[in-house]
Amino acid sequence: MCGIIGYTGTKEASGIMLDALELLEYRGYDSAGIALSDENGGPARIIKRAGRVKDLRLLCEEKNVSGHCGIGHTRWATHGGVSDENAHPHGYGKITIIHNGIIENYRQLIEKYELDGKLKSQTDSEVVAAVLSHFYQGDPYSAIRKTVLKLKGTFALAIMFEDIPGKIYAVRNVSPIVAANTEDGAILSSDVAAIVPFTTQYFVVPELNVVCLSREGIEMYDLSGDKARIDWLTVDWDISRSDKGGYPFYMEKEIMEQPDVINDTVLPRIKDGKPDFTAEGIKDEMLASCERICVIACGTAMHAGLVGKSLIQSMIGIHVDVVMASEFMYNDPVVNDKTLVIAISQSGETIDTLEALKFARKCGSPSISIVNVKGASIARASEHVIYTCAGPEIAVASTKAYTTQLAVLYLLTARMAIARGLWSEDQTKKYMDELLRVPDVMKEVLSQKEEIHHIADTILNAKDVFMIGRGLDYSILLEGSLKLKEVSYIHSEAYASGELKHGTIALITSETPVIAVVTQDKLKSKELSNIKEVQSRGAKVILLIKGDEVLEQEKIWSRIFRLPVMEDEFMVMPASVVLQLIAYYVSLDKGLDVDKPRNLAKVVTVE
Ligand code: G6P
Repeated sequence: MCGIIGYTGTKEASGIMLDALELLEYRGYDSAGIALSDENGGPARIIKRAGRVKDLRLLCEEKNVSGHCGIGHTRWATHGGVSDENAHPHGYGKITIIHNGIIENYRQLIEKYELDGKLKSQTDSEVVAAVLSHFYQGDPYSAIRKTVLKLKGTFALAIMFEDIPGKIYAVRNVSPIVAANTEDGAILSSDVAAIVPFTTQYFVVPELNVVCLSREGIEMYDLSGDKARIDWLTVDWDISRSDKGGYPFYMEKEIMEQPDVINDTVLPRIKDGKPDFTAEGIKDEMLASCERICVIACGTAMHAGLVGKSLIQSMIGIHVDVVMASEFMYNDPVVNDKTLVIAISQSGETIDTLEALKFARKCGSPSISIVNVKGASIARASEHVIYTCAGPEIAVASTKAYTTQLAVLYLLTARMAIARGLWSEDQTKKYMDELLRVPDVMKEVLSQKEEIHHIADTILNAKDVFMIGRGLDYSILLEGSLKLKEVSYIHSEAYASGELKHGTIALITSETPVIAVVTQDKLKSKELSNIKEVQSRGAKVILLIKGDEVLEQEKIWSRIFRLPVMEDEFMVMPASVVLQLIAYYVSLDKGLDVDKPRNLAKVVTVE
């Protein structure tokens, strides 16, 4: 989950790396470090410390470091606590290394190469540096090949050798590395966010290939030593999407971008008024022949899957399971060639999702992934990929990636209905017209953000918040509750309103604000009764309700937000925006680091 960067060229490397590490900090931010090497060779200069990249920047200024070739790292601790010693880079002999991933057999390696007592840190990464040093006798490729064959686990490694000035070597297994030429040299990183300021052309380093970056460019070899072909990709992200664009935090900017990125995701996939996935190679037979669907995802992406489940089950009438990717393998999954597997992932790198997808493919399941980052591992591991066009999502809490995932699920559901001959032309038109209204409806909600801010103020000091709803409203609230927890640190639970009375209602007091969402006509009367139940236990209710209908019930809310009216199945979109903004404003007003909540990382590449 750590961020890695490497640069070699004619420019000063330290500034380039520190800027890049700031962009990558969402991958992990408990410590950071850089190593710089000099044209004449000699030991790399390592500057590292526990803390944020801004702290490292101060240390670099103090130490007045410089160099034209370097590697840098921002850490999310796995092996070894958060300390200066455990921060990367690690040096051993002539080797300087940074690592993202987990080396599972590090203990055995320590024994085999008699490293006990010789290491300065508690990390598995320093062990790799030591093994490399053991094998290094002047030929970097041979040392890397021999080392890689000894490693069990996941790794993205960037390596400098003190007697090979100006060059950076890199190799990976599972954990990502992308690389690109710059005007004056070359750059590598754990994701494209750091590459975008330099170039739009990049490539994903294939697993177990070794790349070498120098001022002259990039070379790549496979593990048997043969030169390998580089498959270049183009970033189609607008560079302005990588900065804060005048907003105090990326999260707010990303919430505000949603109408545009939904258009970017939906419009290119409509032909003759119907959803069209021919560009993705998805044939109607695939959508028509599956008997079951299994959605695999984690976190927010899994919550998008839950909305997809409701849509597909109600409109197509086939069974959909949504499985937490981290649990998938351990529950004896029953998937086969009649099960369409849909893997959803913003980063495309979440290891649990990736492994679950690979397993399902081995069982013969056809697969589609919904991914935001081009060329990411999950995209490459699935039969078909539908890219969300959310652009870079930098805030750890996912917002625009979620709603673009939903947009793809709306399109996919409609294509499936057409492929199965379930919809008339009229039904299709009505559904597609409604989908096309989403960006404008979202804009309407966003224009009321100050009103939502006032609503958020009412839960600022709450210890616990409950969120209740039924059906699709419950699915939305699972995501709304996760958002609030992760950015505000307020304990929050989403509950299916009907289930609340089976125990949890015991926790409702006048100190427990309850957010209730009521957007589904067929569930409304039941949902309103459930709200009455919590209100009569003293709870202050924040009600998000569809439309401006006057409720017959006596006033059951202390705050109300009236959502713009859409067909029921689309109400997820405006309601999600309100819940995202509530979480955002609570975090902002508590003075927290909205974009980098404690203990979290955006890209989870460890199981
Ligand atoms: C992390 C992030 C979440 C994200 C989840 C799945 O936990 O903090 O925001 O939803 O991973 O990530 P993915 O990239 O697979 O969507």
